[in-house]
Amino acid sequence: VPAPTPADRFSFGLWTVGWTAADPFGSPTRPELDVVEAVEELAARGAWGLTFHDDDLFGFAPDPAHRDRQIARLRKACEATGMTVPMITTNLFSHPVFKDGGFTSNDRTVRRLALRKVLHNVELAAELGARTFVLWGGREGSEFDSAKDVRAALDRYREAMDLLCGHVLEQGYDIRFAIEPKPNEPRGDILLPTVGHALAFVERLAHPELVGVNPEVGHEQMAGLNMTHGVAQALWAGKLFHIDLNGQRGIKYDQDLVFGHGDLLNAFSLVDLLETAGYDGPRHFDYKPARTEDRRGVWDSAAANMRTYLLLRERAAAFRADPEVVAALAEAGVPALSEPTLGAGETAADLFADPALDTVDPDALGRRGYGFVRLHQLALEHLAGAR
Ligand code: GCO
Ligand code: MN
Ligand code: MN
Ligand code: MN
Repeated sequence: VPAPTPADRFSFGLWTVGWTAADPFGSPTRPELDVVEAVEELAARGAWGLTFHDDDLFGFAPDPAHRDRQIARLRKACEATGMTVPMITTNLFSHPVFKDGGFTSNDRTVRRLALRKVLHNVELAAELGARTFVLWGGREGSEFDSAKDVRAALDRYREAMDLLCGHVLEQGYDIRFAIEPKPNEPRGDILLPTVGHALAFVERLAHPELVGVNPEVGHEQMAGLNMTHGVAQALWAGKLFHIDLNGQRGIKYDQDLVFGHGDLLNAFSLVDLLETAGYDGPRHFDYKPARTEDRRGVWDSAAANMRTYLLLRERAAAFRADPEVVAALAEAGVPALSEPTLGAGETAADLFADPALDTVDPDALGRRGYGFVRLHQLALEHLAGAR
């Protein structure tokens, strides 16, 4: 497996390697990580980009001198290492003011404050040349059905998105927004809980072309869904603007494991999809180095994300190139699905009148074996390095 290089477009959130590992049951197990060290250590391991929330870099409501200093230090570290800032995002979840949400808080003043906080960070994105702006609405939601008018909340969400898109268009910024779905945690139920919900929401905005999705492996899997299917639908809709890669084992709390350390077969099919569908955006890792790890463990886990991706990329390419796999795919009818069901110009009347369909034996068709299991075993054997 080759070593990671910037051409692989691997990026990391500052809040990932910088997580001090405080959880709801215990205090931090690691000291704070400085942004310059994050940039240098990631660059040394072949990463390409660093992403961050406003609060990660300079805190909530920073004094302007501190804010400027932190931005300057980040810029300088990027210049020295060749690292980039491909995406930034806003923290609308940590401060108590956002306990009932940002864009969709029941309190109008909170909504206005949230929107202005995001606008400030959109300006910063433009300044730093970040072309994707992620919006994860972790606090947009409720625990109690009686406490949230969901239709009104979606109106307010849309109002916020329309203002942000209008601002970007007016200013002529080269920025697109990516909504990150999550079903729950920290709220009991989060609005726009899955990729599908977010895609449907985007179509009702004033500028849908400026808004896509940022699916996270673990978030789809927390809902019991297939990440690869969700990403495929986002690609199909032209909406895969960004992606959060990590690991999750089943329907439970958000684990944010290293990519591949959860459902490995689904990680394999995801890499296969990204690499064959022409996705050329960032491969962004949004994981948490386990609370048991010290500083060395943090950098080992960062490297593990990239190495796993490259390993899966290599295995997926070998799977595609294997003649036995090509034959198994053909037998399974996978390429045949790309043929349109109707001939050119065919109508419902033509289908009613098709004599070939009159003579078809549905029972014989029903006896066809598709060979999917053999195909999947071939995938597993490539993944396991057995072929
Ligand atoms: C989570 C989310 C966040 C977001 C981040 C960027 O589960 O905590 O994945 O990590 O990705 O806030 O908006
Ligand atoms: Mn997560
Ligand atoms: Mn995420
Ligand atoms: Mn996360």
